[in-house]
Amino acid sequence: MLSFSQLNSNNFAGAFELQCACHAYPWSRSTFASCLDGQYFAWQMLENRQLAGFYVGLQVLDEGTLMDIGLGPHFRNKGLSRPLLEHFLQQCKKKGIQDIWLEVRASNKPAIHLYKQYGFNLIETRKGYYPSPDGREDAMIMKLSP
Ligand SMILES: CC(C)(COP(=O)(O)OP(=O)(O)OC[C@H]1O[C@@H](n2cnc3c(N)ncnc32)[C@H](O)[C@@H]1OP(=O)(O)O)[C@@H](O)C(=O)NCCC(=O)NCCS
Repeated sequence: MLSFSQLNSNNFAGAFELQCACHAYPWSRSTFASCLDGQYFAWQMLENRQLAGFYVGLQVLDEGTLMDIGLGPHFRNKGLSRPLLEHFLQQCKKKGIQDIWLEVRASNKPAIHLYKQYGFNLIETRKGYYPSPDGREDAMIMKLSP
């Protein structure tokens, strides 16, 4: 069974660790902690009471950004990315967000495939935007509009 809870300064430790397990270049604890309130909104997803995934969104007026989204390594390839992304999209709708932006590494095929399934379109490619073990990697800037 899936359940969702909003992250705050008292309960984000697990989601922060998950974020570290998700990325070669994760955010620091203080950066993660600064993305929990104000214009940010962050949620975790539990599967059978186990922390499975998280996302962090940002709202500026009627524009939203998916700052990060991730599933624990043991929770991938099971279709759980869909309820997680759908929860984020529902939150955006509730907040009156019109356009939703995100950036993704060009090599991140599962994420790009997922975003395209939900209607995100490629707007721009930023050459060498991300650090990578082989040097630099391109970022794909994607946008979902109603
Ligand atoms: C991004 C993430 C949430 C996706 O979740 P996942 O469980 O791995 O992905 P899914 O198994 O749901 O796969 C998503 C889709 O991509 C497809 N896919 C998987 N690997 C693929 C590949 N190498 N090439 C093309 N498509 C691929 C899947 O088949 C699926 O499509 P389908 O629904 O048509 O079958 C997860 O991989 C993750 O947490 N990654 C680390 C953090 C991260 O990179 N976050 C994104 C930041 S922008």
